Amino acid sequence: MSIYVFFLFLIYCSVSWCQYDLADVTRDTRMSVNDDMFVTASNAFINFAVLLYPFRNATAGEPISCNIIYSTSDFFVRSIAVVGVTKNSTNSEQFMYVFTAEKMSTITPYVCTVTVTKSTCAASYSCTVLGRNGYHPEYFLVGVDTNSTHAYGFTSEFVFKLDIYANEIVLNLTTDDVWPSQSFIPHALDVADTWAVVAGYGYEYLLVQGENRCVVLHVIFIYFRTGTYRALYQTVGCLIDLSQLINASCVPITSETSYLIPSNVISYNELYELSVAIRGQKVLIGIPRLSSVVILCHFGSSLNVTRTHLLSFMSSPSIGRVVDWSDDTTIAILIDDAYETDWSTTQIFFYDEDLVTITSPFFTFPNNQQIMGTRLLRPKIARFMITTGGNMGMITSNDDMLIIPLASTGYVSTWNETTKRTFSFYYIPTICIGGTYKNRSSLGPCSICPPGTRNPSLSSTGISQCMSCSSNASCPLASLSEINFTTAASYSQAVPYPETTDATDIEDFLIENVFQINSKPHCVLISPLFWALVVGGLCLLYLTFILLTHLFNCTSCMRCHGRAKIVFKHTDIINEGEMWLGGLATFAIVVLAAFTYWFSVSFIRRYPIENIFQPATFACDESLINAQFSTGLELLTIPKSNEAQPIFNLLDKQTFNLTVELINTGFACSSITVQENLLTSKYVVLPSDCHRSIEIAITSVTITLPKHLTTIQVNMTGPYSIGGIRLCVRGQGETNGAYTLRELDFCQFYMTANQVIGRYTYVPIVFVKNINVTQALDTKDPTVYSGIWMPTFSEVSLSDEDYYTEYGNYLRYTSSLTVLQVMFDEHPFYMKNIQQPIVRAPELIFHNLLFTSLCIELFAFAFLFLKLLVIPICRPIVHRCNKTINRNGEHYNEDVSKSTDE
Ligand SMILES: *[C@@H]1O[C@H](CO)[C@@H](O)[C@H](O)[C@H]1NC(C)=O
Ligand SMILES: *[C@@H]1O[C@H](CO)[C@@H](O)[C@H](O)[C@H]1NC(C)=O
Ligand SMILES: *[C@@H]1O[C@H](CO)[C@@H](O)[C@H](O)[C@H]1NC(C)=O
Ligand SMILES: *[C@@H]1O[C@H](CO)[C@@H](O)[C@H](O)[C@H]1NC(C)=O
Ligand SMILES: *[C@@H]1O[C@H](CO)[C@@H](O)[C@H](O)[C@H]1NC(C)=O
Ligand SMILES: *[C@@H]1O[C@H](CO)[C@@H](O)[C@H](O)[C@H]1NC(C)=O
Ligand SMILES: *[C@@H]1O[C@H](CO)[C@@H](O)[C@H](O)[C@H]1NC(C)=O
Ligand SMILES: *[C@@H]1O[C@H](CO)[C@@H](O)[C@H](O)[C@H]1NC(C)=O
Repeated sequence: MSIYVFFLFLIYCSVSWCQYDLADVTRDTRMSVNDDMFVTASNAFINFAVLLYPFRNATAGEPISCNIIYSTSDFFVRSIAVVGVTKNSTNSEQFMYVFTAEKMSTITPYVCTVTVTKSTCAASYSCTVLGRNGYHPEYFLVGVDTNSTHAYGFTSEFVFKLDIYANEIVLNLTTDDVWPSQSFIPHALDVADTWAVVAGYGYEYLLVQGENRCVVLHVIFIYFRTGTYRALYQTVGCLIDLSQLINASCVPITSETSYLIPSNVISYNELYELSVAIRGQKVLIGIPRLSSVVILCHFGSSLNVTRTHLLSFMSSPSIGRVVDWSDDTTIAILIDDAYETDWSTTQIFFYDEDLVTITSPFFTFPNNQQIMGTRLLRPKIARFMITTGGNMGMITSNDDMLIIPLASTGYVSTWNETTKRTFSFYYIPTICIGGTYKNRSSLGPCSICPPGTRNPSLSSTGISQCMSCSSNASCPLASLSEINFTTAASYSQAVPYPETTDATDIEDFLIENVFQINSKPHCVLISPLFWALVVGGLCLLYLTFILLTHLFNCTSCMRCHGRAKIVFKHTDIINEGEMWLGGLATFAIVVLAAFTYWFSVSFIRRYPIENIFQPATFACDESLINAQFSTGLELLTIPKSNEAQPIFNLLDKQTFNLTVELINTGFACSSITVQENLLTSKYVVLPSDCHRSIEIAITSVTITLPKHLTTIQVNMTGPYSIGGIRLCVRGQGETNGAYTLRELDFCQFYMTANQVIGRYTYVPIVFVKNINVTQALDTKDPTVYSGIWMPTFSEVSLSDEDYYTEYGNYLRYTSSLTVLQVMFDEHPFYMKNIQQPIVRAPELIFHNLLFTSLCIELFAFAFLFLKLLVIPICRPIVHRCNKTINRNGEHYNEDVSKSTDE
């Protein structure tokens, strides 16, 4: 009983909604394209969309679009094959296509030809009933030979040949005439000039269990009834001679030993789909169930498998449901869900016929230069075909048509955004974007310029080679212009805080300054000791002069001396006016003291270091300053003094502007957005100020940060690459009494040699507060605070090159989103730099007094030394000399005694 109900259900189902899924686009071949026309059928809208000259450009005349309503709404179109311009049409006025269909109410297979008149879009149908009522073939293939004279239809039950122009069935055969195996279910077809290739599943019965060989025709029946018989299927490719159609020569195209599940072979299952494409004598067959593509060669009357390629993308459920030749050596394979793209869930991979591996595609479609607009709602590519001219037509799962003409050298066919209510979307050949080139005609994107070359893309013609740069370094991959490293340099306001010199004692400075003579002319000139020696030398000269006058008895001179001695005695501060020699030495002391005071006065003014612009000409060491420094890290959480707090407030209040300069890029301002990332995946969009300079290929975005600790994300959409990034942080300075917030201006340039910045870059910037505390020279004055933020730019990983090396260079073109994240953080410590004078005025005065008295004491000590040691030794000698002199002139002595009395 239950089985009975089940069969009733089967019959009911087959007649009504199960059999005819009007919305399904992927099943059957309801699209066909050649260089003359592109036809798709929509059973849901009972409508053929016909494009005449679909790949013609605007200058050659726009494509012509016609909507052709089915001749009856009872039609369910199964497959289409375009013929193109009809042979007898004058002025290319008439176009023709063939389709196979079923009348749904009676399940009657048909084949029809449709002639479309170009100027009026009028269509005329000529249909032939194939005369097998009630038979619903799972696959109902149709193809037209390259001579465009005949159409060929294949099902698992019958095969026919139709003379297109005579609209007459020339051959009407059953399966047994054509296929060598007991039964055969054709899945895919392609037709050349005199031969065709049909791929499908052929089967034989195999007794697994049971006693009798069962001759039951319907496999499902066996399967349902006992479950003990299984059929051994094989995937075969059959070569068909189009003149006869009979006795196809079939070869197994897989060597699989596993059993295929019969129900899946007989009824439709997407996994069991096959696809065939012929180019010259080469045949390409896609087997999605095994993730394989097989290339066969047509030799005489047989097909030989030349290559089998196995692909396995982890995430892909289907590889090769549709395949085609892009040119004589390039194959195109439809792959589902290979990886996420923003444009579609399936991609077409283009490979060299000899090298089909996961990493080896030349390119994929869609890609970042050839997107599918958001209007298409991220579709699945239902089917595509590439014409002999190399143009591509495509339908999506939403029944939209995509027309992608072959783009010549230097051009790429790109999406043309439109707001029109249309279901046909044209790609237009446009010049390669900046930083890319294309050296051959293809359906694919332009390739990026290798390092050391560039393409500014400013001219109106496409280029096949990038021009070379003056140096390799200034042109990384994908360059538009040469990077000018002067305009893109990093710079920083950070300077090392000065360190205190060894001597921090004013006495050291005084002594060093006074008692040191350096060989440098400048040092000699300002050396107090030198001038003291000069004075001492003058005194010595004077003494010698006196001695000479004594020797030569110059009376008037001696009288002069007498007076001078009195004066000198009065100036003597060493021996309290006792010795006229002391008076002479006093001059030297005065010179020393004068220089010392000059030094002191000049020295004390050399504070703080920020106000010193001239070299210290008064000292031998011209960098001499009256400042000592100490520096250290302090924890931010430690409470600040009332005096220090305002500088922290100023620092925390400063507004940062982040400028992101994208160097060597083609990104336009309109494709850049900036956001502030919040917790989890939330974000807010930030306003930004963007400028682009096309000549130097720099786009710069300035953002005012809403707060200091945040993460900013810059999103760039488009096919462009970035050669380098410069991040600049700027902020305005402010002065508030003794508190100065310094202007912030840091820039950091990021680049990796010969490579581009990766699609996702993360740059952390850690800020450190840097506070300079300058104590006043005069203790009455307030301490001066100045603060600046110091960013630390970390080394980051910038390039995706390793990823592309590992997983395939084509991945470069599969994403159009470039993300730069900049995270701002603050260090928990701050730098505290303290500057204080080495000496303040009162201390200096005191030290100067001490120093003066020291000088006097030193001279006094010298005199004492003279008195106690030198004179006792010299006196006897002098005495003896005197006696000799006395003998020679008594009067001299008298004069001397006279003058001393005075
Ligand atoms: C348009 O197509 C014709 C031939 O198909 C070609 O010669 C011409 O350069 C094309 N024009 C443009 C603008 O691409
Ligand atoms: C072309 O030939 C077909 C069939 O031979 C005929 O039906 C059609 O009218 C012809 N068209 C023209 C324009 O001669
Ligand atoms: C083809 O042959 C079958 C019988 O083999 C017949 O039923 C059918 O009507 C024929 N179709 C045409 C179009 O001649
Ligand atoms: C193709 O058509 C031409 C004439 O248009 C004819 O001479 C030739 O034999 C045809 N080829 C085939 C395979 O039918
Ligand atoms: C092609 O295959 C057939 C048999 O399948 C074989 O006889 C023939 O030598 C093969 N040809 C080449 C070129 O391999
Ligand atoms: C691109 O689309 C716009 C409509 O959005 C249309 O005006 C324009 O002609 C199209 N470009 C070409 C080359 O067809
Ligand atoms: C780089 O820029 C600077 C300043 O704008 C300019 O003087 C210099 O000539 C430029 N260098 C090159 C190689 O363009
Ligand atoms: C920061 O950016 C804002 C807005 O773009 C601007 O008004 C301001 O002058 C900038 N500040 C600095 C220091 O560049």
